[in-house]
Amino acid sequence: MSDNNATLTVAGDTKDYAILNGTVGPQVIDVRKLYANTGMFTYDPGFTSTASCDSGLTYIDGDAGVLLHRGYPIDQLAEQSSFMEVSYLLLNGELPSKAELEDFTRTITRHTMVHEQLTAFYRGFRRDAHPMAVMCGVVGALSAFYHDSTDINDPEQRRIASHRLIAKMPTIAAMAYKYTVGQPFVYPRNDLSYTANFLNMTFSVPAEEYVIDPVIVDAMDKIFTLHADHEQNASTSTVRLAGSSGANPFACIAAGIACLWGPAHGGANEAALNMLREIGTVDRIPEYIARAKNKDDPFRLMGFGHRVYKNYDPRATVMQKTAKDVLAKLGVNDPIFDVAKELEQIALHDPYFIEKKLYPNVDFYSGVILSAIGFPTEMFTVLFALARTVGWVAQWNEMISDPAQKIGRPRQLYTGPAKRDYVPVDKR
Ligand code: CMC
Repeated sequence: MSDNNATLTVAGDTKDYAILNGTVGPQVIDVRKLYANTGMFTYDPGFTSTASCDSGLTYIDGDAGVLLHRGYPIDQLAEQSSFMEVSYLLLNGELPSKAELEDFTRTITRHTMVHEQLTAFYRGFRRDAHPMAVMCGVVGALSAFYHDSTDINDPEQRRIASHRLIAKMPTIAAMAYKYTVGQPFVYPRNDLSYTANFLNMTFSVPAEEYVIDPVIVDAMDKIFTLHADHEQNASTSTVRLAGSSGANPFACIAAGIACLWGPAHGGANEAALNMLREIGTVDRIPEYIARAKNKDDPFRLMGFGHRVYKNYDPRATVMQKTAKDVLAKLGVNDPIFDVAKELEQIALHDPYFIEKKLYPNVDFYSGVILSAIGFPTEMFTVLFALARTVGWVAQWNEMISDPAQKIGRPRQLYTGPAKRDYVPVDKR
């Protein structure tokens, strides 16, 4: 991996550090020996210059707006593949043969039911609980139900836990929704595809038949595919860090869900739609653009900007087209779609956004689609978590299978008081 070195001189002492090459993308300087050589750490809050691992799953070129899973461009996968196939690809490294895909799909389908006692957990939550709060709790609780797949050193148990998580997330997510709206839980149906089954568990009621619209299934499947993985983002890094201690996979994914919830990460889709609704009409856009540019106003354009993409997020391109298709199919004339398109155009031509390379990200249009399908905004991040579970699980597996894996343990620049002596309370 290394063909040349970087030279660093600290206090007159010069040492070489290997420069490592990935398949594509920037080279990295291997600083693992830095502390031993110099007694110093690197300082990089937010990890803007630090690679925390090597990974063969996902590649992003943020400047060019490129996203590849195992080498395949995201637009090709979203347009031509399916979420099940992309899940197989992420987990196994190669696209499946027809028989392998059928076998994988059958396996996932047969794990979709949850332990019946798990339903009791839901009743412990208030009806108005945010479904992400419910997801954190219920997914964490899975480790109490599936003891036979928590030994992380057994590859077979890891495989079963991975399948269970991917299979049960739609059931758990649909149950979280049903609980908040006061409708009965709907059991999974093995005759339906992964995505059609999820829609059925979410929207069908015992009182009447739910007709599953193939256009909506296709849109939902695309949304899942677009969210499947995104290299070392905050929630994935959280899953890896939790997993690095040897914690069981269910606990690790619950940690990922907790991290995803924040508005700077997975919570942005909910925040983006709320923002579009708040703007309401095209004539109010300039007011919000001005607020986004005002340093004294904490307001940001939600669904805009990205730590890695300094170009159009390739997922947003597919998302915008899908939004158009879904709205047309459903005959929905939602003014917020017009607000979104106009806001995008204004922002893309505004010097502030051009200079800072702020483009629409995956969350900008997803809310428009999800809302048209009938999901309440609180469910948006839950859907993100459902889809990202395969990425988390694949990254976790990659890490655990690596013989060089060790516990994640960042260092710090200490800024608290130096050593001082304790003073008893009556002497203070
Ligand atoms: N609206 C207005 N200004 C912005 C925005 C925005 N959405 N995003 C960044 N900026 C400005 C920011 O004020 C800063 O300006 P300055 O250099 O003058 O201080 C500059 O751009 C760089 O911002 P940053 O916060 O240092 O950049 P970051 O890489 O730490 O943040 C981000 C990335 C995604 C958290 C941020 O762009 C943001 O808050 N966006 C809105 C939330 C959002 O849409 N998040 C979803 C991300 S995609 C899905 C996911 O990963 O979960």
